[in-house]
Amino acid sequence: MIVNATEMLKKAEAGHYGVGQFNINNLEWTKAILETAQEMKAPVILGVSAGAGKYMGGFEVVAAMVRAMDKSLGITVPVAIHLDHGQYEHCYQCIKAGFSSIMFDGSHLPFEENYAKTTELVHVAHGLGLSIEAEVGAIGGTEDGVTAAGECADPDECKKIADLGVDFLAAGIGNIHGIYPADWKGLSFDTLAAIKAKTGDMPLVLHGGTGIPDDQVKKAVSLGVSKINVNTECQLVFTAATRKYIEDGKDKQGKGYDPRKVLAPGTQAIKDKVAEKIRLFGSDGKA
Ligand code: 13P
Repeated sequence: MIVNATEMLKKAEAGHYGVGQFNINNLEWTKAILETAQEMKAPVILGVSAGAGKYMGGFEVVAAMVRAMDKSLGITVPVAIHLDHGQYEHCYQCIKAGFSSIMFDGSHLPFEENYAKTTELVHVAHGLGLSIEAEVGAIGGTEDGVTAAGECADPDECKKIADLGVDFLAAGIGNIHGIYPADWKGLSFDTLAAIKAKTGDMPLVLHGGTGIPDDQVKKAVSLGVSKINVNTECQLVFTAATRKYIEDGKDKQGKGYDPRKVLAPGTQAIKDKVAEKIRLFGSDGKA
């Protein structure tokens, strides 16, 4: 069931668990995540970066595919189609394309500009029934060509953006996209607690979910994180399983070259990873 992400994240915040945002790259990814969420009775958010949207043929293709698949597979758990790290114009493109949720990432802009554009987009998104995520304090690593060092958000700036009426807020607490470097210092729980103290019941978002040790994820959830984004980890398990299939020579046995067969182990690996994360975040059985 396609919905915006407001209600599912309000419930997660009140119930002290996390909802997973899993980024999609193609049809197999989408199907794997939807089927797993349904099997586990978990609400779920499908994240779509601008780059992945372009790869799949455009935001309209993505929205149409997700909506049609949700219907054809008989998915009854709440599912949000969410723009991940959108620039200003991406937000309007996704609203028009039929997404149910957007993220405006103005973290690289001067704070005043981030504030003004977020204000406008909150108004537009809410007028059309979409949920909206904003970001304060850049999240480290590289995503879609934009590189930032892992920084910690200013709790006062978080409060100002939260007060605009955004539905959930991404705030840097030392987290980084992609694989964490060996000398990573871990999440800053002091920053997280300070942000939570200022933003009250606003659901907070932890980006860069790949590679954060389980105990740190659980602690972050206990301190007010309600949405955790995972992308790279699904890519890694998909690629490893596909590599194994080819290296084991399975593609040379019978009709093993059939793309449905070639992509099956990778798709199963995504399902297993998503199930593992849903259990870790505590959102199984919450739909
Ligand atoms: P990872 O790729 O590190 O899991 O981060 C995903 C993310 O935060 C998407 O916005």
